[in-house]
Amino acid sequence: MNKIMVLPGDGIGTEIIAESVKILKYLNESFNLDIEYGYDYVGGISIDKNGTPLTGETLDKCKNSKAVLLGAVGGPKWDSTDPDSPRPEEALMGLRKELGLFANLRPVKIYKPLVSASTLKKDVLEDVDVLVVRELTGGIYFGERKRIKEGGSTSAYDTMAYSDYEIKRIAELAFQTARSRNKKVTSVDKANILENSRLWREIVCSVHKKYRDIELNHMYVDNAAMQLIRNPGQFDTILTSNIFGDILSDEAAMISGSIGLLPSASLREDKFGMYEPIHGSAPDIQGQGKANPIATLLSLAMMFRYSFGMENIASKIECSVGKVLDNGNRTADIYTDGTKLVNTGEMGDLVLAELKKLSD
Ligand code: IPM
Ligand code: MG
Repeated sequence: MNKIMVLPGDGIGTEIIAESVKILKYLNESFNLDIEYGYDYVGGISIDKNGTPLTGETLDKCKNSKAVLLGAVGGPKWDSTDPDSPRPEEALMGLRKELGLFANLRPVKIYKPLVSASTLKKDVLEDVDVLVVRELTGGIYFGERKRIKEGGSTSAYDTMAYSDYEIKRIAELAFQTARSRNKKVTSVDKANILENSRLWREIVCSVHKKYRDIELNHMYVDNAAMQLIRNPGQFDTILTSNIFGDILSDEAAMISGSIGLLPSASLREDKFGMYEPIHGSAPDIQGQGKANPIATLLSLAMMFRYSFGMENIASKIECSVGKVLDNGNRTADIYTDGTKLVNTGEMGDLVLAELKKLSD
């Protein structure tokens, strides 16, 4: 049996996950996939129900599954600058760290009918197909941090540290993934300033010796941010640290027109993975049917690809999403004149209908 934990989280998390579960349910029944899924609370809702963003029990249920499907966490209700109050985002950090999900894959593709939804000019968008490989369990997200009150003033620090083995395993994964793509890795760092970036560059170069068929170049993060807007087509696989990957993947999302389109997979060495859209919980549009479920539907596709090795089902979902967009259906975030505005549930139903056609 294939066990999946479904963690809708906060804000639009519940709405977008509901659409993915529609698809999951259909696939499970029609293809006899023997998938069993259970739900649990994480993030703000778990703070409300359990007093903590992630309980040990929820974590154990995830550990005993083959994959986790996550919506989004966070919201103004739990925003606080008090270092002692629990934060919804700690659930994400806990899941990533405790489940050992060191590699985060964030693919950015251009859907032809959505070119006009991008804020970039049409001619720079042609053939963009980028994969951001973000290190997910190290760096400044997990380094020592502290707030110090001394002599009437307050200061705070966060530490960005990387060990050789952490860089090695993410570099290996990036080179291997690039092999099935356009065989080009751009490693992004800030080696002109940061010591951990200099180590990053050294290790990436030494791992590259095993992957001579892959072209490797290095770029400083400020330049990479500029190049992504200037000429995104130059990138194939971007390999980078936790914080740089966080920032660059939001930027890269806008190339495709909306952050509501981008899925992600967080993986470790075995097939276990956590799958989630790269966007947040968008409390401002919660409950209005405005959320785009596509990023979560595509995350489900990634789950079938990476955790279940079912490429066939993954591409069926992706194809169905493509068809629905080809037919001019748009949620509010990607709506332009002359297209058809649909709500979250309608978008999910349309994808399901295409999927059914493909499976007949
Ligand atoms: C992401 C998100 C998270 C991160 C937040 C919600 C903590 O922005 O997955 O990119 O910074 O990693
Ligand atoms: Mg982010």
